[in-house]
Amino acid sequence: TIPILTIDGPSGVGKGTVARIVAQKQNWNLLDSGAIYRAFALTVDARKIDISNEEALEKIAQTIDLEFKTKLGNELVSVYLNGKDVSNILRTEKIGGMASKIASIGMVRATLLKWQKDFAKAPGLVADGRDMGTTVFPNALFKVYLTASADERANRRLRQMQMQGSKGIISQILAKVKVRDKHDSLRKYSPLKPAKDALIIDTTKLSIDEVITQVVALIEA
Ligand code: C5P
Repeated sequence: TIPILTIDGPSGVGKGTVARIVAQKQNWNLLDSGAIYRAFALTVDARKIDISNEEALEKIAQTIDLEFKTKLGNELVSVYLNGKDVSNILRTEKIGGMASKIASIGMVRATLLKWQKDFAKAPGLVADGRDMGTTVFPNALFKVYLTASADERANRRLRQMQMQGSKGIISQILAKVKVRDKHDSLRKYSPLKPAKDALIIDTTKLSIDEVITQVVALIEA
């Protein structure tokens, strides 16, 4: 069996960074499932599709042309939609919010399921998302659930924005973090929650390196 590490948790907890570094260390494949939902949202937005139109959504889900490319030595994974690099636009707050709405539709989640499962290839996979350990890879060998207080996650997001040269207002960021949490944990299909067999790591007071050490220890135990 292919070793799979699932990393789930709320927005802004640092899953993406941890997943990418662990995947690099282990030389495993990487699935950024949030990017799939975001690319989906971007397509819906560009085509001005009403999100209550399930038929149109299903069509997009079945024909979405998405490719992930990791550049050697690059911090980030680039995402290509219909051959165009959409990495930056995908990471905007607007698309994140839309992704969260679309992700609550059962049909969308069901259609994207097979697509995500296909990432499980040798020599291994690190899968980052909300339901990797509960729904997409319930039999994964290694499961981690990262948490951090909403305040800390909002602070991390602010620092990230500042590093990218944009300004942010902490109270607004915190409000958005809370809305997203509510949306992700109260939805009917695959709500955000730790898998029963996941190692829960509260990262509020931990550095990225400390989190990575714990995750790697789990894999190598
Ligand atoms: O992780 P990221 O912020 O990129 O995800 C964007 C949105 O996509 C999340 O707010 C969440 O609602 C949704 N999502 C999901 N299931 C996943 C990954 C993301 O519902 N596995």
